[in-house]
Amino acid sequence: MKIGLLGYGTVGRSVAELLTQLDCGIEVKKILRRPGKASGPLMTDSFEEILNDPEITCIAEVLSGEEPAKGYIRRALEAGKHVVTSNKAALAADFASLIELARDKDLRLLFEASCGGGMPWVEGVKKAARLDEITSVCGILNGTCNYILDRMERMNLSFEEALSQAQQLGYAEADPTADISGTDVRNKAVISLGVAFHTDITRDFPVAGIQYLTKDILDSFHARGKRLRLMLISQRRGELYALGVVPVVLDAGSYEASIRDNFNFGRLTGDIVGPLSYFGQGAGGRPTADAVIQDLISIRNGCAENAVLGRTMIYDPAVLHGTGYFPDEILPGKTLAELVALAHEKQTFLAFEPEVLEN
Ligand SMILES: NC(=O)c1ccc[n+]([C@@H]2O[C@H](COP(=O)([O-])OP(=O)(O)OC[C@H]3O[C@@H](n4cnc5c(N)ncnc54)[C@H](OP(=O)(O)O)[C@@H]3O)[C@@H](O)[C@H]2O)c1
Repeated sequence: MKIGLLGYGTVGRSVAELLTQLDCGIEVKKILRRPGKASGPLMTDSFEEILNDPEITCIAEVLSGEEPAKGYIRRALEAGKHVVTSNKAALAADFASLIELARDKDLRLLFEASCGGGMPWVEGVKKAARLDEITSVCGILNGTCNYILDRMERMNLSFEEALSQAQQLGYAEADPTADISGTDVRNKAVISLGVAFHTDITRDFPVAGIQYLTKDILDSFHARGKRLRLMLISQRRGELYALGVVPVVLDAGSYEASIRDNFNFGRLTGDIVGPLSYFGQGAGGRPTADAVIQDLISIRNGCAENAVLGRTMIYDPAVLHGTGYFPDEILPGKTLAELVALAHEKQTFLAFEPEVLEN
């Protein structure tokens, strides 16, 4: 199988290197780079050149940002090429319509690397959702935030020191806003829950990050035997569902609280299979490239399945409620949506302890 690789950053370079080293029958025929950077062999700055190459049957899209990546995915599918992407921003922006386009064209659109890096999370959720009614999905899906929280807790670092370390290690971008504000997990939530619940998830759900966290706040939870993790949480009741992204208050002995460094964790609960958990490297060039190549192999082997959407479900914020911990007050019995709205209004840190979160 010959592929066109869009992007040659951390993930793109690893995909190209691994495909050369592994000899798995998948060849990079062309690599899209920005004008002025397309100097190496195989490189081009023309997307049309890749699109119009009849030997290229599959596109691996590993660009950063929503556009032009989203347009490239759409045009590749319209031109009859399968697509694999790691780009959650592009995918989440138009999730349902891209899935529908792939289905209508009888092509595959796979995106394992977009949520949880090297962790086989998306395919796990997709497979469970073939048979089970999934009642909840939750997870620690941002390695940068987990690294910051873990370092603050275990190494006694300030937020700024932990963030700076994350940047030095290449976990956090120079501009870490998407990570620490929860936007990155928000996109992963749209994708993960869309696959799990077979529906186009609302974009209007509560998201609070860790940008207002201080060492004093963390220490006050520590003193009560609690830990914090930035998590996607969700709950389903029949055709009603709620979700959110928020720092969650956890018992120090819980499994989630034991997730260290930049690792990721995901858990789903199915009505037949029960709870299923995933753990692994949520980021980094090679683990993420591993997930991209796994998708390419599935397409090459003809065994890839598209996510199935199309079910009508209703977003109801009342399905997710609990206690909100602000630096100056504790508010029990509120919906997550109410608490996050208050946190945004006050521009302050919020941690949430859900009343019912299925295991
Ligand atoms: N890194 C990870 O651990 C990880 C994990 C999971 C998912 N992802 C996702 O995978 C994607 C790639 O991540 P990354 O870490 O490899 O990012 P990156 O290092 O910033 O690489 C992105 C690449 O895309 C190129 N690019 C952006 N716009 C372009 C355009 N219009 N034309 C041609 N090239 C363009 C950039 O070129 P320039 O260098 O010229 O700007 C860069 O080479 C992102 O969507 C990210 O969210 C990354």
